[in-house]
Amino acid sequence: MSAPPAAFAAFVAGATGYVGREVVRELARRGGRTVAHVRPDSPRVAEWRERFAHLGAETDTTPWAPEPMAATLARLAPTHVFALLGTTRARMRRTAGVAGPAESYDAVDYGLTRLLIRASAGAGSRPRVIYLSSVGVNGTTRNRYLAARWRAEEELRASGLPYIIARPSFITGPDREERRPAERVSAAVADAVLTVAGALGAGRLRARYRSTTAPALAGALVRLALDPAGASRVVESEGLRS
Ligand SMILES: NC(=O)c1ccc[n+]([C@@H]2O[C@H](COP(=O)([O-])OP(=O)(O)OC[C@H]3O[C@@H](n4cnc5c(N)ncnc54)[C@H](OP(=O)(O)O)[C@@H]3O)[C@@H](O)[C@H]2O)c1
Repeated sequence: MSAPPAAFAAFVAGATGYVGREVVRELARRGGRTVAHVRPDSPRVAEWRERFAHLGAETDTTPWAPEPMAATLARLAPTHVFALLGTTRARMRRTAGVAGPAESYDAVDYGLTRLLIRASAGAGSRPRVIYLSSVGVNGTTRNRYLAARWRAEEELRASGLPYIIARPSFITGPDREERRPAERVSAAVADAVLTVAGALGAGRLRARYRSTTAPALAGALVRLALDPAGASRVVESEGLRS
């Protein structure tokens, strides 16, 4: 007899990203209701709708604004909300000078994550929020990327919702659709250095900073999310390897 489908309803923000699409795949594979969010202004909405339907997931295109997002989450009453979005320096360069709100770590990584957390808190279903943060995040950093993520973490900790904060190291792999040669080279160099460091006895350093792939990370995120006994906590990268 096959196992009954898992009883959950998950909303995935950042579903079109390298990690997001793997999280959608893994959730749908487990048989719960999976709603993949795609921003309504994405030029690829139709393509994503088809891809997610093929995986067994629904697509939602609620605008990134407080009231519509709150209404959508109240209607869906999710048990789990995944916050997997963030901008990059390349995206910021591409959108600089283009009409519309400026992209920045503050506006996207912090601002949209905060919007999502607040909508989740108002949904009435008390979902567990799984936030994809980053290795190196702390309360004293002067790095803008890490600082935006620290503020998003603080928002989640103060929300009263159950949560998992995941802090992975480099996420890379040959299956990333967007070409990021610099990131792949950095990850490869870091992995090589860490292999040597590991051989010299710095095993903990290697466990924390060596790179991972989206499928491996997605498997770990979904496992942590669906663990009924899992308490709210921060999970560092060594705890995110499937
Ligand atoms: N890559 C790494 O090595 C690494 C390491 C640690 C932590 N992280 C963090 O983990 C998160 C996910 O990583 P990833 O590699 O999956 O990222 P990714 O492939 O770049 O995906 C980013 C996601 O964020 C969405 N997004 C970006 N700007 C947006 C905006 N202005 N409005 C609405 N949505 C927006 C994208 O939507 P569209 O597809 O519609 O643009 C996409 O769904 C990132 O936030 C990243 O900072 C990454």
